[in-house]
Amino acid sequence: MKPVQIGVIGTGSISSLHLDAYKNNPNAIIYAVCDLNEERARAAAEKYGAEKVYTDYHELLADSGIDAVSICTWNNTHAEISIAAVQAGKHVLVEKPLCRTVEEALQVQRAVEDSGKILQIGFVRRYDANAQMLKSLTESGEFGEIYYAKATAFRRLGNPGGWFADIERSGGGPLIDIGVHVIDLCWYMMGRPKPVSVSANTYRKLGNRSNVEHLSFYKAADYDASKNTVEDMGNALIRFENGASLAVEASFTIHAKDNESFVKLYGDKGGMEIDPEVVIVTEKNNTIINSYPQTDHKGFHFESAFQNEINHFIDNVTNGTKPISPVEDGVEIMKILCGIYESAASGSEVKL
Ligand SMILES: NC(=O)c1ccc[n+]([C@@H]2O[C@H](COP(=O)([O-])OP(=O)(O)OC[C@H]3O[C@@H](n4cnc5c(N)ncnc54)[C@H](O)[C@@H]3O)[C@@H](O)[C@H]2O)c1
Repeated sequence: MKPVQIGVIGTGSISSLHLDAYKNNPNAIIYAVCDLNEERARAAAEKYGAEKVYTDYHELLADSGIDAVSICTWNNTHAEISIAAVQAGKHVLVEKPLCRTVEEALQVQRAVEDSGKILQIGFVRRYDANAQMLKSLTESGEFGEIYYAKATAFRRLGNPGGWFADIERSGGGPLIDIGVHVIDLCWYMMGRPKPVSVSANTYRKLGNRSNVEHLSFYKAADYDASKNTVEDMGNALIRFENGASLAVEASFTIHAKDNESFVKLYGDKGGMEIDPEVVIVTEKNNTIINSYPQTDHKGFHFESAFQNEINHFIDNVTNGTKPISPVEDGVEIMKILCGIYESAASGSEVKL
């Protein structure tokens, strides 16, 4: 079997998780890298042994040596690069969020369908071994009908600055950046019900708090705290056609005593907690039982989840199979995210 030749577009902070995982996959070859910042691209090429270095993604996409690309750039470029890539005959793994607007998402979906190429969205939480274990229990009916989920993704201090804090390039703040992970994870576990309405609030009360000392946090490769046009906190209640609902809250900064990460889902036969630690709650013989599955990691494990995501992508490209996080799921999540921002802006519930 011929290994899949990979091009990685965007060699900033998250790209190393993609590159490490491709390097560990015997069916992948890191063939090319591309970044607007040539020095950064060259450093990645050197570290991972890429043959080609580009600063213009169009040139990378014109390279017939490339079978598939990872897109690890700013959110405002995801749609444009994804469309150009599938039109150039490349398979695509695009980082979350798929893009910034529903309109862009639908354009990507059309281009993917017309091209027949694979587009996998980097909803990395789905690829965690515990998430897959719980998904299979969900599908075998362990929890019955899941009718409620709630998720918190609070960074007490963690506005990554740079493009993340620039709404033009990011599309939003913590809701679209880290909220998207837990919204998607809950929605996936709930069986992807159709979202019908959203009621949400966003707040810009604390700024980016770049004044705070003695605590480190995730930063964009080009960290710059001079501009901040995104919310610092937001919450939402999402209703689904089947009557289920999801409550979510996310922050880049908030006066919490620590970071908080909770993902909990409740069904009519049982419940589960995914974050911070996997717990299954059931009732047997008139007794409530909390069980703790024995797996390699108690909670979400970043590196192995990325490895699973990349392995899945390489398998899909090799075998022509459909990703478990396909483009249409990215479109639905964009409907929810855009509904959240629209509801917060209007101060009323939005029908999707
Ligand atoms: N899955 C996850 O857990 C996770 C975590 C962090 C970031 N992300 C996502 O990954 C993407 C990148 O985030 P990051 O933290 O690496 O940002 P970053 O700012 O550290 O890196 C982005 C890189 O993309 C480059 N770039 C931007 N536009 C480009 C273009 N048109 N052509 C070539 N290069 C371009 C920049 O020069 C920069 O080096 C974002 O979409 C973000 O939402 C995902």
